[in-house]
Parts: sequence; structure tokens; C-alpha cells
Amino acid sequence: MTTDSVLEKVSTNVPQHIAVIMDGNGRWAQAQGKGRVAGHKAGVESVRSVVRGARKADVKALTLFAFSSENWKRPEQEVGVLMDLFMFVLTKEVKRLHKNNIRFQVIGDVSRFSDKLQKSIAKSEQLTADNTGLVLSVAANYGGRWDIANAAKQLASQVKNNEISLDDIDEHSLDKQTCLADLPALDLLIRTGGDYRISNFLLWQAAYAEFYFTDTLWPDFDEVELVQAIEVFEQRERRFGKTGEQVVSK
Ligand code: IPE
Ligand code: IPE
Ligand code: MG
Repeated sequence: MTTDSVLEKVSTNVPQHIAVIMDGNGRWAQAQGKGRVAGHKAGVESVRSVVRGARKADVKALTLFAFSSENWKRPEQEVGVLMDLFMFVLTKEVKRLHKNNIRFQVIGDVSRFSDKLQKSIAKSEQLTADNTGLVLSVAANYGGRWDIANAAKQLASQVKNNEISLDDIDEHSLDKQTCLADLPALDLLIRTGGDYRISNFLLWQAAYAEFYFTDTLWPDFDEVELVQAIEVFEQRERRFGKTGEQVVSK
């Protein structure tokens, strides 16, 4: 089935914000007798395909987990290759993103990256800042706990500077300080690669997201499976604490 024929079946209830834990690159490569790095390289094509699919499905925001705050624990050589790949893809793809009206941003603590990579990220963000189409956020050196702790720190500093009072700290003000606060709420969280965990991704933002787990390894994932995930999402009944009857009668 092509994406377009699958898309025809998709109703109007498309998730506005989809996030993906892009997992399984290493196992994909190993299954082919190749080094893990080959899987990361192959995974870039899946990113292109999923961005294409998200645009076609009229998704507003797509957030991709590329490198977690825990991934520094990997062998130095693999981390090095991932950084080089990130740099290479950024310089190569950003023009195309811009042409497609995509707003690009990186979420995470970028201060640990090389100056060169930080500059390249800033340049890409600036170039695409005024675009009005899909918002593509790439999570790099991102951790959900870091995000929440960082938000708490911002609020504490505002209290200290008498900009807000202690009573102003609530879910809404903390939310505003977390990454992705300016985007629609996270509707759908996809994890490829067969594991059932969140690995310190969008802990705060996933509070009411629907989860879609697939055994497909990231380099085999594409826009067609993205649309399948969207279809599964549309079958779900989201109750947000209410009863099923309350939701149906609405
Ligand atoms: C995900 O694939 C990519 C990153 C975490 C950077 P993995 O590299 O984790 O692949 P597996 O899980 O070992 O197969
Ligand atoms: C999660 O994958 C991080 C990314 C996809 C970037 P991992 O492969 O690092 O997750 P764990 O270690 O298996 O939980
Ligand atoms: Mg993994």
C-alpha cells in the first residue's frame, strides 16, 4: 500500500503532535552483519520518510529522539560517529527543510556539543525560525528529568528575582518552562525497536499521550507505518480522566 492510499482512510482526527523514540538502529545493522554505525546511517532515510509522512498527514509538530542524555555512556567511537552524522545531516538537509516551510529546532542541553555543532544548530534554527509549516524538534542530549529540573530552576530564579511569587508556581507555569511548551500537547508517542519503555524521553509532556509500540527497527520504519500508527491512534478513546460514557455523549 502506498502512503497516499493509506492516507485516504485517515479521518480528520489526526494527532497534532507526534513524538518518536527512534530505536533499533544497532540491532538492524547487526542483523545484517554490519557494525552498529551502519544502522545509524540507514536511520537517516527513515527520518526523511517520517517527516514527509507527517507533512502529508498535516501533523503540526513532530519530535524525534535522536540522542538521550544517557547515550553518552556508549563507546566513544559510536558517540563520535553519531555527532559527525548529526553535523553532516544538519548541513545537508536544512535547506530542504527550509524549502518545505518546516521550522526546525533542537531540544536538549546542547552546551555539551562541540562549538561547531552548536553553531550549526543555531544557524539551522535561525534560518527556519519564521517558517509556518511542520515544527520538527530533534531531541539531542535530551532527558525528560533534565527538562523538568530545568523548568523548576527557571521558576526558582524568577521567584528569587521577585518576578513571580511562590504561589505562582503551578502545573501551568512549570509547563511553560519545559521544552515544547509552545506546541500542541503531545498526542501520540511512538517507539520502534520492540522495547516498552520511555527511556527518559518526554516524561512531562507524555502525561496523556497515546503510546504506540512496534517491533519494527528504526531503519525499517517509514511514512507508511507512521500512517498506520496514526490510524491506531484514531481508534483509541481518549478519556482524560472522564468515563467512557461522558466522552461518547460529548
Ligand atoms: C537508536 O538505536 C539510536 C540511538 C539511541 C542513538 P540504538 O543505537 O539504540 O539501536 P539498538 O537499540 O541498540 O538496536
Ligand atoms: C532511546 O534509545 C534513545 C534514543 C532513541 C535516542 P536507547 O536505545 O538509548 O534506550 P535504552 O537504553 O534501550 O532504554
Ligand atoms: Mg536502543
